[in-house]
Amino acid sequence: MKRTLGTCYYPEHWNPEIWESDAARMVEAGLTWVRIGEFAWSRLEPTPGALQFEWLDQAIDVLGRVGLRVLLGTPTATPPRWMIDKHPDMLALDVEGRPRGFGSRRHYCFSHMGYREECARIVTLLAERYGANPYVAAWQTDNEFGCHDTTISYSDAARAGFQRWCQARYGTIEALNAAWGNVFWSMEYNSFDQIGLPNLTVTEPNPAHSLAFRRYTSDQVVEFNRLQVDILKYHSPAPVAHNYMGRITDFDHFKVGDDLEIASWDSYPMGFLEDRVGADPAHQRTYARQGDPDFQAFHHDLYRSVGKGRWWVMEQQPGPVNWAPYNPAPLPGMVRLWSAEAFAHGAEAVCYFRWRQAPMAQEQMHAGLLRPDGEDAQAMREVHQMRDELADAPDVQSAQAKVALIFDYDADAAWAVQPHGAGLSYFGLVFDAYKALRKLGFSIDILRPDTRSFKGYELVLAPGQMHMPEDQKQALAAASAQVVLGPRTAARDQDMSIPVPLPPAMPGLDVTVDRVESLRPDMPEPLAGGGAFVGYREILQGAADVILYCSDGAPAVLSSGHLHYLAGWPDAEGWDKILRPLCDVAGLTPLEMPGGLRRRDTGAERYWFNYSTELQVCDGREFAPISVTRDVLT
Ligand code: GAL
Repeated sequence: MKRTLGTCYYPEHWNPEIWESDAARMVEAGLTWVRIGEFAWSRLEPTPGALQFEWLDQAIDVLGRVGLRVLLGTPTATPPRWMIDKHPDMLALDVEGRPRGFGSRRHYCFSHMGYREECARIVTLLAERYGANPYVAAWQTDNEFGCHDTTISYSDAARAGFQRWCQARYGTIEALNAAWGNVFWSMEYNSFDQIGLPNLTVTEPNPAHSLAFRRYTSDQVVEFNRLQVDILKYHSPAPVAHNYMGRITDFDHFKVGDDLEIASWDSYPMGFLEDRVGADPAHQRTYARQGDPDFQAFHHDLYRSVGKGRWWVMEQQPGPVNWAPYNPAPLPGMVRLWSAEAFAHGAEAVCYFRWRQAPMAQEQMHAGLLRPDGEDAQAMREVHQMRDELADAPDVQSAQAKVALIFDYDADAAWAVQPHGAGLSYFGLVFDAYKALRKLGFSIDILRPDTRSFKGYELVLAPGQMHMPEDQKQALAAASAQVVLGPRTAARDQDMSIPVPLPPAMPGLDVTVDRVESLRPDMPEPLAGGGAFVGYREILQGAADVILYCSDGAPAVLSSGHLHYLAGWPDAEGWDKILRPLCDVAGLTPLEMPGGLRRRDTGAERYWFNYSTELQVCDGREFAPISVTRDVLT
């Protein structure tokens, strides 16, 4: 399969007279894919039941006739205004119980069955009409589930759905009371219909209650997506994708992905830098026009896993966005670098958001490949460069890495419910581990938590996985790789209670967590010889070998054979100190990647990406500022 480019196009925003020249220019720019339709409900059905598909017929025809492959989105992220009159209670409610109003997008509650029926209806109409259309070569469900904090809704529909979910999961109210520990503070229920949602409580709700509600909500996203996929698959042979969003973790992307052929995500490297990367101001300043050197790569690897190998960048930032705290323009060369990096991680397609900058509405400050007047914008030159480079690039490829990192959305939910210290998150911990591995020059596979075979891996990291099923423990204990666990591994049972025997209760590793503490940002716990634990720390007991101490004499890493347990959240220097000796044992050769230089092997190629504005030297070679270097591996 060829590596391809595409763009996001909104024919409904433009006079049909320019569709043909737009299509011709897309082909000229080397684009294969054009993604349309995902916000067009008010033009497909201006009033209830009054369908107007002729314009979409024509748009698909114009685009398809010049050879573009159309990816058609279902418009369910933008229910039109009349829908709210029809279903006034379909709006999601925020944690304060306030409806999330009409006037932007994603104003629906996943649990609302009336809205689900409306979605099934419009998706069926689209699938029946275009399912056999030869120009429609892929589908997208909805748009960015969870974006704008829209996964969790505290609506009546959610409460009723949650009560049914609890009944199905626990069977009897006594079992639920026992699992959640509701005897505490007399929180016991007499029946499932008494169960409320974990918001508006006087003080914090029971973490078991909160985690159960997050799991319920995640399941609603899975069902909501599956409803659409089933309809699309019934009518169309084309693959179905969804576009996930960076660092939106409040539903299980792997479970949604199980129903899709292709995973994709929307990559806004500079938009993410300020709010989502979690870096300090100096780092933000250094990479203000490039984006963080690891954040995109992490998501590329994550979605390769979610997509079972098949993944795209559905939206690639082409210039300044409108929505970050600050919105500078990227340095020349960055659009090409970001695009090439996606292919280096195995992407099938990179689609630029958006074709032409919109002169109206919320995103009028958001760059496109064209200016609002239709002239080429900043990124177009680099898109042409990508077109030329892809002409003789190898096909899509990605070899298995030697290093793996487990990512578990359920653990992310558990940390969100109980961070135990301000600013602590599972995503943050795992992303720190990822950055440390990249700094050592490794290519990384991200594995789903139900992975039970670790064949081919030399080093497997599973930090922070708060609930770890027994068969996963057994599989990790049986792996031939070096395995890094902790902190907080297996710290809770499946319902958020502390298990006895105390954590991590890992077969083959004599370690017990005696006590835990979270640390203020200004009280790092130094490690002997450099580096520190930051934010979170555990005091360990056990007969396993101490291979690193904290400077106060407590064990920092305890090991038995290939199993290693971290007693805290290491800073960058700490990770380096902990991982290097394990690389030696694992037979891996770490590098020291300087500045913004990163490396990734695809199988047939080795890519080097220099995110920094300075020349970098590594392994005796020089890498120009803001550059992509490609070696062909023999
Ligand atoms: C994405 C979204 C697009 C557009 C874009 C702007 O989150 O999917 O529709 O809003 O951001 O950067």
